[in-house]
Amino acid sequence: MTRHFMTIEQQSLRDLDTIYELACSAFDDETLKGQGVALVFERPSLRTRASSSTAVHELGGYTTFFSDDEIGLDSRESAEDVGRTLAEMYAIAALRVRDHETFERMRVATGDRMSLVNLLSDVAHPTQAVADVLTLAEHFAEGDVHGLAGLEVAYVGDATNVTRSLAVALLRLGVNVSIGAPVGYQLSPGSQENPAEVSGPGRLVVTDSAHEAVKGADAVYTDAWVSMGFEDEAGDRRRDLADFRVDAPLMKVAKKKAVLLHCLPAHRGDEITDDVLDGPASLVWRQVFHRRSAMLGVLRWIKEERS
Ligand code: CP
Ligand code: NVA
Repeated sequence: MTRHFMTIEQQSLRDLDTIYELACSAFDDETLKGQGVALVFERPSLRTRASSSTAVHELGGYTTFFSDDEIGLDSRESAEDVGRTLAEMYAIAALRVRDHETFERMRVATGDRMSLVNLLSDVAHPTQAVADVLTLAEHFAEGDVHGLAGLEVAYVGDATNVTRSLAVALLRLGVNVSIGAPVGYQLSPGSQENPAEVSGPGRLVVTDSAHEAVKGADAVYTDAWVSMGFEDEAGDRRRDLADFRVDAPLMKVAKKKAVLLHCLPAHRGDEITDDVLDGPASLVWRQVFHRRSAMLGVLRWIKEERS
């Protein structure tokens, strides 16, 4: 069966374990020999485009990049027809989309002929979550993702696509997750995407206090206050989230040796201050490094099934 990587929730524990393992083990540089991977970006990107391109190249394949203004998903032609076209020439398409539903529409339209990889949608950023798990495992557990069980991870700010994928990935590994966000910016309980629905030994706490979320945490994570697509709300968001900035006083509430994570791009002075982002607790450049590891893991896992 063709493998897709659309959300962390949809992956079995076994598949996630395989992806984590394949992300950091020696690889065959002919895994994708002579094969193309379509990269479709409806939104801007630096890390995701760079890590996808690098990983495909290292596995022996090549990428073709399609930007939103060239391809016009649902404006120049339907997402279904874009999918059908790509499936005639590519076995794998990796996409950054405005609307998560695009994945299911393309999957159905192509009859599962082409593997789909989510490179960020409005609800999920699963390749980022894989990189974040690898980064935490490297720092706290000598690379063993299962050694993270019992760790306390706090997320502060707007609960975004990144937050959701991260929370699900960590809860499944037995990590305790606290999310501090103001009312209206929290993960919505009872919704389809709520990680509380995901079974796993980790404990999820949601709170409207940044201080409560961070108290005693081993790691503190934040993301943009104004995610892509929310630019019209920038003023309101800066006002509503002002008490959820990760700064030095907030980091002091966490454990003494707590680390700082951010998916980037950072908006210095909004969700994060310079001293924390550039300080000794920051693991953000290891997260960037592991974006490539994560892509290697996902692509190798997809190919494993196809070979
Ligand atoms: N973290 C991340 O996805 O970065 P880009 O938007 O630059 O790809
Ligand atoms: N939540 C952010 C993540 C960027 C990598 C966004 O969607 O813009």
